[in-house]
Amino acid sequence: HGTMEVNEKGNLEVGGCDVTNIATEYGTPLYILDEEELRDNCRAYRQAFEEWYPNSETIYASKAFMSLTICKIVEEEGLGLDVVSGGELYTALEADFPTDKIYFHGNNKTPEELEMVLNEEIGRIVVDNNYELELLNELADQQGKRADILIRVTPGVEAHTHSYIQTGQTDSKFGVGIQNGLALETVKKAVELENIDVKGIHCHIGSQIFNLESFEVAVDVMLDFVEEVKIETGLVMEELNIGGGIGIKYTDKDQSVSIDQYAELVAKAIKQKCEEINIPLPKIINEPGRSIIGTAGSTIYTVGSIKNIPDVRKYVAVDGGMPDNIRPALYEAEYEAIVANKANRKPEEVVSITGKCCESGDMLIWDIELPEMEPGDVLLTPCTGAYGYAMANNYNSLPKPGVVLINNGQVEEIIRGERYEDLVAKEEIPARLK
Ligand code: LLP
Repeated sequence: HGTMEVNEKGNLEVGGCDVTNIATEYGTPLYILDEEELRDNCRAYRQAFEEWYPNSETIYASKAFMSLTICKIVEEEGLGLDVVSGGELYTALEADFPTDKIYFHGNNKTPEELEMVLNEEIGRIVVDNNYELELLNELADQQGKRADILIRVTPGVEAHTHSYIQTGQTDSKFGVGIQNGLALETVKKAVELENIDVKGIHCHIGSQIFNLESFEVAVDVMLDFVEEVKIETGLVMEELNIGGGIGIKYTDKDQSVSIDQYAELVAKAIKQKCEEINIPLPKIINEPGRSIIGTAGSTIYTVGSIKNIPDVRKYVAVDGGMPDNIRPALYEAEYEAIVANKANRKPEEVVSITGKCCESGDMLIWDIELPEMEPGDVLLTPCTGAYGYAMANNYNSLPKPGVVLINNGQVEEIIRGERYEDLVAKEEIPARLK
């Protein structure tokens, strides 16, 4: 994974830094972010799309992991940004992210969020539904502004992925359906609104997708819709946002899909289809999250209690768990692990890695082959960069771990880990109870 290697002491290194030293210096649990891997992933998208479809833009879906430093790196790499809430937008603005390269998403944007978007003159608003469309038109009118929008459509494509993260099908809380005619109605309405400019359409068919053909099908359905809109309203869509979603290899059970293959397939499908239906080539926007940040992040833990239940299972407990990585509990997501201080040792036994929460579901990994562990060992789970910190919580009042950025032998803390004080910092006891 990324820049991982084993040094002469037999310890794991990430970005030229000995993981056991990082653990000693910063404590565990801790998220570590490999800057080189993050930049490589950004560049892979830029280069692939530059080659296959130059009129395109890659924007990072910040929901996967939003932070000021990540905004800075992503901006330096020339990517735009997808934000889904006032909070993500606030963070992007604090990082001075160029507002014209920000896309604002969400299926239930509040009036306050829409006002913020209009105030800050954010690049595009991805409108989800008719209520939002009318509200936006009204707010834009009050501010004397026009809003450039994309309309989120559901193309009816079912990507083969965990059903919780499947979003492109018609029965979805997101967007307006192409197949049932609702999308056309929304476009017709939008075209008539005074303060709205329809620039294009958006779809997102799901996440952690390995089956690239589902993107081909989605593009095909979307372009048929673009043609239909042109016939029905005369409007020619200039932009096609194809969402995010390509999968990453968490374990050997996952395939690895190449960003280049994805770009090639999407580019060819679009060019061929546009020629067929005789419409001008649109600008393509793609908005990956997981495949930008996923492989760049890892989590390190310290091993504590080890419980061997004869003939049943050996539980190895670490000092984090579902509060820092809820994905195994939520999606049955699977991870690998490396014992950082025994990185050159062969697997010796099958164990299950559990967290420290008061809940049986707090398992990080079931049945993994690892070298024999003892308390104090440092365990690293790779590929936790996406939806790890982003979905972290304080269950059992565990403080959220911090994040360090690793680059070329250097370690920098980019998010301070929470302290116990932070857990009660926002609380107020009513005077009568003091
Ligand atoms: N664009 C839109 C509109 C999205 O809804 C998403 C993800 C993305 C882009 C980025 O997709 P990605 O490239 O990361 O697959 N919490 C779940 C994943 C939820 C994804 C939600 N939408 C998980 O941990 O697997």
